[in-house]
Amino acid sequence: MSLLDVKDLRVEFKTQDGLVTAVNDLNFALNQGETLGIVGESGSGKSQTVFSIMGLLAKNGIVSGSAKFEGREILNLSEKELNKVRAEQIAMIFQDPMTSLNPYMKVSDQLMEVLMLHKGMGKAEALEESVRMLEAVKIPEARTRISMYPHEFSGGMRQRVMIAMALLCRPKLLIADEPTTALDVTVQAQIMDLLNELKTEFNTAIIMITHDLGVVAGSCDKVLVMYAGRTMEYGTVDDIFYNPSHPYAEGLLKAIPRLDTEGEILPTIPGNPPNLLRLPPGCPYQERCHRAIPQCSVTAPALENFADNRQRACFSDWETWTK
Ligand SMILES: Nc1ncnc2c1ncn2[C@@H]1O[C@H](COP(=O)(O)OP(=O)(O)OP(=O)(O)O)[C@@H](O)[C@H]1O
Ligand SMILES: [Mg+2]
Repeated sequence: MSLLDVKDLRVEFKTQDGLVTAVNDLNFALNQGETLGIVGESGSGKSQTVFSIMGLLAKNGIVSGSAKFEGREILNLSEKELNKVRAEQIAMIFQDPMTSLNPYMKVSDQLMEVLMLHKGMGKAEALEESVRMLEAVKIPEARTRISMYPHEFSGGMRQRVMIAMALLCRPKLLIADEPTTALDVTVQAQIMDLLNELKTEFNTAIIMITHDLGVVAGSCDKVLVMYAGRTMEYGTVDDIFYNPSHPYAEGLLKAIPRLDTEGEILPTIPGNPPNLLRLPPGCPYQERCHRAIPQCSVTAPALENFADNRQRACFSDWETWTK
């Protein structure tokens, strides 16, 4: 049994202009200790995918399909049951740490509160465990700094505090929604290294959301490439990195800065993602696709299994691509 098993996950939003399908029949699975990267440009449905699993959709959102965590359906749980899952089983870290941290409370109080509430710890024990967790995320002088307020930490350090908070109850799954985009490149790399270390130390499965395929390479086992709410390609990092089978994945890969091409202008994918309210017939990516054929504007390619545990939705004949 997988830790998380997602089947036909669909998220629709009711809007004044009609129904928007933000997540369109996703299927993926994650095992204990594995990391899945969800990659795609802005608006491709990455956040809504995980929000639906965490029960965090906006009021106009409707979720359908199935998401089983350790075999138990977690879509449409009651608020009470969800709170328990969110505190003890699945934790989430956001792009902006201040969405999880209370600016008016000392870090110590925020961390200790979680442990006292969910783990039934007494004050002294909760303090010790909180200091230990800040040390695990490599905050220097954790014992002194723990009594500071969030604004007294730098951006990167705040992100570490948020990771510590997310890991306090030892969740089996950690969801990180673009945890490093607000940080500069060096700090970004440090946070990614930290997440990789913590994954080993705590045997946590991770879902890492990013629009940078480069981030995925060093830290993920599997990758889900999304576009306009759909899976374009799903497979192991090695397969997608060294042998992408979808033109969109190919485009994202070419846009990653590499040391040996320093100074050259990076190719970007021309155009913009489509408006979900006015999707073209056929494949949503066709207008920007360098491998499009006439069939692509008539019907949308179905998501098909090919090779081992690999899926793609594309009509182009991959075997004939010259790489
Ligand atoms: N409450 C809502 N009502 C209507 N549409 C919504 C709502 N919330 C999100 N959407 C739409 O769902 C689509 C997917 O959004 P989502 O936040 O998942 O994108 P994303 O891939 O996380 O992008 P980014 O990289 O910018 O965070 C977007 O087109 C967005 O406009
Ligand atoms: Mg997002």
